[in-house]
Amino acid sequence: MWGWKLSSLLYARAGEKVSKEFDLQLIGILGPKLEGAVIADCGCGPGVTAGRLVDAGAGKVIAIDAVENMLRQVPRHPRIVRVQATIEEGTLRRVGKNVIPDGADLVLFKRSLYHRGEQAVRILQDAWELLRPGGRIVVALPHRNIARYAFGRPRRIRSFTLYHLFNRFISRVADFLNIHSYRTSSFRELASMLRRAVPEAQPRPLLPPRLPFAVLSVQRPADATRDGAQAKAAGKPKEGATSGAPAHGGAARRKPASPESGAPSGSGPPESTSLSGQDSDA
Ligand SMILES: C[S@@+](CC[C@H](N)C(=O)[O-])C[C@H]1O[C@@H](n2cnc3c(N)ncnc32)[C@H](O)[C@@H]1O
Repeated sequence: MWGWKLSSLLYARAGEKVSKEFDLQLIGILGPKLEGAVIADCGCGPGVTAGRLVDAGAGKVIAIDAVENMLRQVPRHPRIVRVQATIEEGTLRRVGKNVIPDGADLVLFKRSLYHRGEQAVRILQDAWELLRPGGRIVVALPHRNIARYAFGRPRRIRSFTLYHLFNRFISRVADFLNIHSYRTSSFRELASMLRRAVPEAQPRPLLPPRLPFAVLSVQRPADATRDGAQAKAAGKPKEGATSGAPAHGGAARRKPASPESGAPSGSGPPESTSLSGQDSDA
């Protein structure tokens, strides 16, 4: 993770411009659905997007990042909960259990799902289980095509061109040296990863394809039940599963986790939550 630690020193400033168009489009498209929404921002970085999401009306944003210095830059806001955690298989299950037991309306991986192969697929499966009915996963990965990534579409020199060229070079070097993994993607590759994770879902482009990222989304049917999906994924019968449309946003309600069940310990940056408690489900 020290590659990300290094990048946290300049990220907020450099990331702001690059992020803005994506964030404004996402907020524009989700519109009123953001009102009161519970969002897991996975690999939130310095929280530029998290801040915009609460400003747009999100009810709660769980800003998750492995790097303490990134989390320190996340805006202090009563509706932003900072969680220091490495996103890997099981992390989002723990977040669901300890932080948002009623699930999420949006799980966002904005330039953060850099994991390879099956690891990424399993993380996406956890994200799917975390979703409330009608909720969605949005994944944005740097476009594999370097011209597209650096110059956008239509191709021209952009405010982010130099930064993206530098970023691609450094990230490839870091990946090669095993400092941290870095994954780029085409739309087709991203769709195939999402289909492997959630065969029943149909990946769809959520944002206009002008961005230098491949962005796709999968959405849970509004009449799905979370407990049913969790039991299915765990190979267990649907113990106490709720059928029908429950209260907020149609979510299946579950009791908040008790402090004994591996609740957040409060370590990490000030006012943040960490997931250091062991979770037997993970
Ligand atoms: C390119 S930045 C993107 C930040 C933010 N999502 C944005 O688009 O502005 C990637 C972020 O993901 C975090 N990250 C990468 N891999 C991670 C992992 N396995 N677990 C937790 N955070 C991770 C890094 O620390 C970094 O803050």
